[in-house]
Amino acid sequence: MILIMIESQWGSGMDKIIIEGGRRLKGSVEISGSKNASLPCLFATLLTDEPCTLNNVPELNDIDTTCKLLEHLGKKVERKDHSIQVTSRKPLKTEAPYELVKRMRASVLVLGPLLARFGKASCSMPGGCAIGVRPINIHLSSFQALGAETEFSQGMVRLKSNGLKGKKIVLDFPSVGATENALMACVLAKGQTILENVAKEPEIEDCAKFLNAMGAEIKGAGTSKIVVQGKDFLHGATHQVIPDRIETATYLIASAATKGEVELSHTYPKHLKVIINHLIKAGIKIQIKEDKLNREYATIFCKVQKAIKPVYIKTGPYPKFPTDVQAQWMSLMSLADGNSLIQETIFENRFVHAAELGRMGAKIKIKGNQAKVSGSGRLSGAEVMVSDLRAGAALVIAALAAKGKSVIQRVYHLDRGYEKLEQKLSRLGARIYRVHG
Ligand code: EPZ
Repeated sequence: MILIMIESQWGSGMDKIIIEGGRRLKGSVEISGSKNASLPCLFATLLTDEPCTLNNVPELNDIDTTCKLLEHLGKKVERKDHSIQVTSRKPLKTEAPYELVKRMRASVLVLGPLLARFGKASCSMPGGCAIGVRPINIHLSSFQALGAETEFSQGMVRLKSNGLKGKKIVLDFPSVGATENALMACVLAKGQTILENVAKEPEIEDCAKFLNAMGAEIKGAGTSKIVVQGKDFLHGATHQVIPDRIETATYLIASAATKGEVELSHTYPKHLKVIINHLIKAGIKIQIKEDKLNREYATIFCKVQKAIKPVYIKTGPYPKFPTDVQAQWMSLMSLADGNSLIQETIFENRFVHAAELGRMGAKIKIKGNQAKVSGSGRLSGAEVMVSDLRAGAALVIAALAAKGKSVIQRVYHLDRGYEKLEQKLSRLGARIYRVHG
């Protein structure tokens, strides 16, 4: 029997990360471009056949999957460092196959642009994942409001329309993906569309900025009401993707958890106000220094002076505390000097990391969507397993702070959202290395 080990550039599914904990992180780390802004912008290139260039795109597994999907649909994708150029090679297909959609839920973002351009689009229904069922009913009701018909067969959702017409649409919930899909559908609809109760995340604003550079007419992105004047076509454009606010939060919390002193560059503190306020409440010293080169960027110094104080958090849609930082915060609270409460209001099953943190000595009691954390001030290394991207980040943070050695399994989840994780942490003094499976 020939065992063919397919070692993708992301490592194999059996890779593990080993961390010798208990070392303070010190030094500076450069934040990468935002995964959750890059993905909708990449799908937005389906709205034109002209060349589009995206800069500051992180090198991640999910970006890889998206480029493969764009190529499957008929796009030519050229990548050089953190820049991606997308042009049309041949007439575009309008169906996203199960093989690629099952790997990444965000593939559902092909629907809006393809429906807008060709009057039809289909993709395999994205499955749920460790953090919840994650339906797409709000996406579909927005398309129906614009005049599309939907049909389900063999696990596929199929959309068709004789031309989308602008409407007033009120989303049942400010879903990030549904906002992005509705936005990409209505930019080519006839007339005006008003989208209300939409997500206000910075990634929405960034996607709208790219669409406007392509010739769309979008006003109000980043607020709960967006007004779009439909156009006949969009042209190519170049766009610089915003920094990753969730990666920034992750390194801030890692620095705090190890009582370190870390400088984070190439990031936007304005996207992290609620995180910074909570870290200050927890006793962490944060200093923000405008970046000399680029007025937009700033450097955040994160330094712990005394013990970490327990701080209650409740997640919610932006600008509330991000659900994507809840797991990392739980690791920090496990090290705090006292009890804290964490309330998760976005996903119904986003405490899976609590059990794994428990293996490292954390004392966490789950009751419905609340987690009570009895901070013990210390954790010990253990063998743990990653269930999803941000749970993985939480386990890495706990392992960095824990006494002794940790072995973290299923690190392919981490490769979806953290660029050069081991390299960045090693440069900050962490004792971390990957063992290929
Ligand atoms: C985006 O996912 C992010 N992913 C997620 O980040 C993030 O956790 C989430 O927004 C919330 O901020 C990307 O941007 C690629 P939602 P999305 O639609 O769009 C329910 C990460 O770690 N809902 O805002 O899928 C849904 O079940 C990832 O980077 C419906 O009920 O999230 C969830 O409970 C994880 N019907 C809530 O809304 C719908 O049609 C929020 O989901 C759509 C969503």
